[in-house]
Amino acid sequence: MKNIGVIGAGTMGIGIAQVAAQNWNNVVLVDTNQEVLDKAKAQLEKTLLKLVEKQKISQEDSNKILSLIEFTTNYDALKNADLVIEAIVENITVKHTVFSQIESIVSPKCILASNTSSLSIASISSVLKYPERMLGIHFFNPAPLMALVEIIPGVRTSNELTVEAKSIIDSWKKKTVLVKDTPGFIVNRVARPFYGEALRIYEEGIADFATIDWAITHFGGFKMGPFTLMDYIGNDINYTVTETVFEAFYFDPRFKPSFTQKRHKEAGLLGRKTGKGYYDYQENAIAISPKEDVQLGEKIFNRILAMLINEAYDALFMQVASREDIDTAMKFGVNYPKGLLEWSDEIGVENVLNTLISLFEEYGEDRYRPNPLLKRKVRELQMGN
Ligand code: NAI
Repeated sequence: MKNIGVIGAGTMGIGIAQVAAQNWNNVVLVDTNQEVLDKAKAQLEKTLLKLVEKQKISQEDSNKILSLIEFTTNYDALKNADLVIEAIVENITVKHTVFSQIESIVSPKCILASNTSSLSIASISSVLKYPERMLGIHFFNPAPLMALVEIIPGVRTSNELTVEAKSIIDSWKKKTVLVKDTPGFIVNRVARPFYGEALRIYEEGIADFATIDWAITHFGGFKMGPFTLMDYIGNDINYTVTETVFEAFYFDPRFKPSFTQKRHKEAGLLGRKTGKGYYDYQENAIAISPKEDVQLGEKIFNRILAMLINEAYDALFMQVASREDIDTAMKFGVNYPKGLLEWSDEIGVENVLNTLISLFEEYGEDRYRPNPLLKRKVRELQMGN
């Protein structure tokens, strides 16, 4: 049993606290806002009640989980923590203030972690006296349900600390992957074409939202098509992730955001949460039917999949993570039906390369440039034959 501190009782913080307590750790959940803490507690009680009703956990377990979590506005309660995970607003100045403050409270052995999605671990840890004690531990939303956790050592993080932090999260029955401190880590980087290429196909007038979604779910076996998923995530949030990754990659055209999504965001068409996005979720809305043209559907699916595979190859090429971890991340962080690298072997890397080459020839745009590692792999296969 360890003492876990979680800072920020918002969407992610409460989920992380639940995961830690469900694995029988003592948890201190700190938020500066008492109202947020009260709401988080009420929400957790509701979640646990549902789990009891579904017979996933017993009433006894539910009581124990709740009793393990201390909800507080007092940072001093983190004094005995073995690991503190910060999940407050995505703002570097606020994070710096919090990390400086907690370093003077916790013991020298305590591991410090951030759940940041888009800030670098190097920049967050720069305010610490001992930056080697800090790393990224990136959960996915909702934390209790999503199996993946990205473990991100910064350039100054000690190796022993990374191993120790990883083993703690592994013991919480999560699938951990080791990632370099690079923009978007694995999932938010490799998944960009799922949205970006779908939007591009729509913008070119090749197909409408429903047809693109149908192509992806029907031929790819994805649970949701890109437009359904963007509406689910929220176009404001999804657009911001793309824009952040684009800027962080020094405006690499591969990550260029889409005007269509920007206009949807600006117009308040955010998706499910506003009742309208690419689709209408209001009562009595008329469902839009896809154009189930097999040839068109296959073309759309092959184009988006080739772009995703190219991105997975780029992450491997730039040594962001291992081959296995890149595939694990996409299967468990965004529920892809298969890992992209294993998928490329299954359909043939030559086919993926040919799709990319023909897109590159057609458009002459840098976003379609095939990754050198993918080209190398095809060359090696051809030489082997
Ligand atoms: P949120 O806005 O739901 O919650 C943030 C909480 O932090 C609020 O309750 C706020 O009262 C509290 N807070 C603000 N300043 C504080 C301080 N100085 N001390 C203590 N508490 C403070 O945010 P959310 O969505 O939970 O995100 C938190 C972090 O997790 C961000 O870094 C975000 O990038 C990351 N993240 C978010 C995901 C998501 O889907 N929402 C997924 C993965 C990571």
